[in-house]
Amino acid sequence: MFRSSTREVPEAVPSVPQHIAVIMDGNGRWAKQRMMPRVFGHKKGVDALRDTVKRCDAIGVRYLTVFAFSSENWRRPADEVSFLMGLFLKVLGTEIDRMHERGIRLKIVGDRSKFVPELVALIEAAEARTADNAGLTLSIAADYGGRWDALNAVNRLLAIQPDKAGQVSEDDIAPYLAMHYAPEPDLFIRTGGEQRISNFLLWQLAYTELYFTDKLWPDFDAAALDDAIAWYQGRERRFGRTSEQLQAASGC
Ligand code: IPE
Ligand code: IPE
Ligand code: MG
Repeated sequence: MFRSSTREVPEAVPSVPQHIAVIMDGNGRWAKQRMMPRVFGHKKGVDALRDTVKRCDAIGVRYLTVFAFSSENWRRPADEVSFLMGLFLKVLGTEIDRMHERGIRLKIVGDRSKFVPELVALIEAAEARTADNAGLTLSIAADYGGRWDALNAVNRLLAIQPDKAGQVSEDDIAPYLAMHYAPEPDLFIRTGGEQRISNFLLWQLAYTELYFTDKLWPDFDAAALDDAIAWYQGRERRFGRTSEQLQAASGC
């Protein structure tokens, strides 16, 4: 089980983030700026994701988690929702061979109950096929919401161990959280200029460094990722302690 940043201070803070979480925002505006329909931006967003996966893999990031569709995105116009679902289905089908060849382990996190059976089957097949891969773990959050995740974890625990009611601990729910197989994110990136979490990994972002950029997601490339990582490397991660304590601990 991965250590909790609130239960104990992480021993070593990695200079290259081990886990990066991204809100890929700004596709619609990117398309609008080009007088194109919003969905054109979603298509271009897939290219930016491919480049980001490649760059993360190359520099030794172990986990990349991207927000593809939030539990609130069902509120969008029906034709955009259906385009996004179709795009997800298509991209999973076309990219899986390439990902597998590169040793990527694919995970899809979120509530699958509203997906069409064809998509669920494809997700299950892609996860099973790449499960033993030792490279980057790419997690795609689809119909994911941080509140859903936390409530789902508590409800699943209590269904199995009803006697835990009133005394649920972090360790008890950890195995039931969607991202139980990954350490907490070191770096969070949101493109598109908004400075909010939009119900992404609420539980897991407790001590994550938060980076916001105005760049729209389809314009996000390896250089933009490097900028975010350089910013991260300049942060002092105190986990509740003082600067002086950190300096004393590192012998400065
Ligand atoms: C993010 O881009 C992609 C999804 C939410 C699926 P948006 O579609 O939110 O783009 P903007 O924010 O409207 O520009
Ligand atoms: C967050 O973006 C979700 C994804 C990128 C998938 P939104 O564009 O939906 O977020 P809000 O509505 O502006 O907060
Ligand atoms: Mg948006």
